[in-house]
Amino acid sequence: MGKRVFTNCLAATMVADADAYGLIEGAAIVVAEGRIDWVGQAAALPADYAAIPSTDLGGALVTPALIDCHTHLVFGGDRSHEFSLRLNGASYEEIARAGGGIRSTVEATRAASDEELLASALRRADDLIADGVAVIEVKSGYGLSIDEEMRMLRVARAIEQQRPVRVRTTWLAAHALPDEFEGEPDRYIDEVVIPGLEQAASEGLVDAVDGFCEGIGFTPDQIRRVFDKARELGLRVKLHAEQLSDLKGAVLAAEYDGLSADHLEYLDASDVPVLAEKGVVAVLLPGAFYALRETKLPPLDDLREQGVAMAIATDCNPGSSPLSSLRLAMNMACTLFRMTPQESLAGATIHAASALGLEDEYGTIAASKRAELAVWDAPHPNFLSYWIGGQLLRGRISGDRLA
Ligand code: NIG
Ligand code: FE
Repeated sequence: MGKRVFTNCLAATMVADADAYGLIEGAAIVVAEGRIDWVGQAAALPADYAAIPSTDLGGALVTPALIDCHTHLVFGGDRSHEFSLRLNGASYEEIARAGGGIRSTVEATRAASDEELLASALRRADDLIADGVAVIEVKSGYGLSIDEEMRMLRVARAIEQQRPVRVRTTWLAAHALPDEFEGEPDRYIDEVVIPGLEQAASEGLVDAVDGFCEGIGFTPDQIRRVFDKARELGLRVKLHAEQLSDLKGAVLAAEYDGLSADHLEYLDASDVPVLAEKGVVAVLLPGAFYALRETKLPPLDDLREQGVAMAIATDCNPGSSPLSSLRLAMNMACTLFRMTPQESLAGATIHAASALGLEDEYGTIAASKRAELAVWDAPHPNFLSYWIGGQLLRGRISGDRLA
């Protein structure tokens, strides 16, 4: 990896300023050994960089590469039949309680070979990459035994070997109760979730720990026991919280210095200050809101007014969010959640990086960050949230290479 200066671009650095995009017109971006060395107006480029090779970007828009900070990318089968059931009036919870939902994906995931799981995950990863994504968080949660959960994480990590993308893996064994533990959620936590986490962590397979805190998931007390183990292992936590009801999951995540609390449609405004105080990122998932035809909005105004960082992710999964376009999630964040296009792009870059604990490395175009950038066929960063569909990505910069 060498040095290169990328010139003649409109850089949306995402370093906060008045327009929130940190726009630099006529920008030059210097890359050295995979990191950004300098960014600014080309006219101000220091003379020491004059001799290094340069690439003219023809006036294109450049942003930090996007980050999808909440996905369930690895799974077997699909749940298109549940889509029909929901359109005919069944609710997500009713389908789950009747043995469908997550548990039907568990059956399909267990039945799939490693090769099948990887092949289907790569198809979805390719969709994300085509949208400028360079970092993907992938959760376990469809294996629900120690071996199967670890297998999911290994498949997730294998994506990195095959595609130009960084993967962060999250232990989500507390996602649903498998049939073999019916009626015994505490035994499942004791025999699978906690010892499995220890084992997966000892093999270096876990970057963070998550749970589904919900009536059809696990209680705050059960999640607390998982989080205690995470803390003991030195792993950061995040939580599916307040998606369908208010169990105070976000407050629980804050108590454990969580990286993020995710979904949050049923978050009470009175719980927003603790997220602000503890720097917990609110990960908003408009794809799930849309697909479940939810009508209750997260408390957006309170989150904004109190300065809680808001990230946007696809929640790519076969049930509640069959979505593999982060740009479409950004568009939905604007249209459905009334976020601004600036908030939406910040949500898929700088705040998504924070939701994964990667804010020192990704999310802005600034000196010392990794040189992972997206080059777009778009006149202005607003366009990325505004335009629905299409192929806007012109290329990706990774280190000194433009591909
Ligand atoms: O983020 N809510 C829990 N987990 C996923 C849904 C998983 C599924 O339905 O398969 C979510 O919405
Ligand atoms: Fe999720």
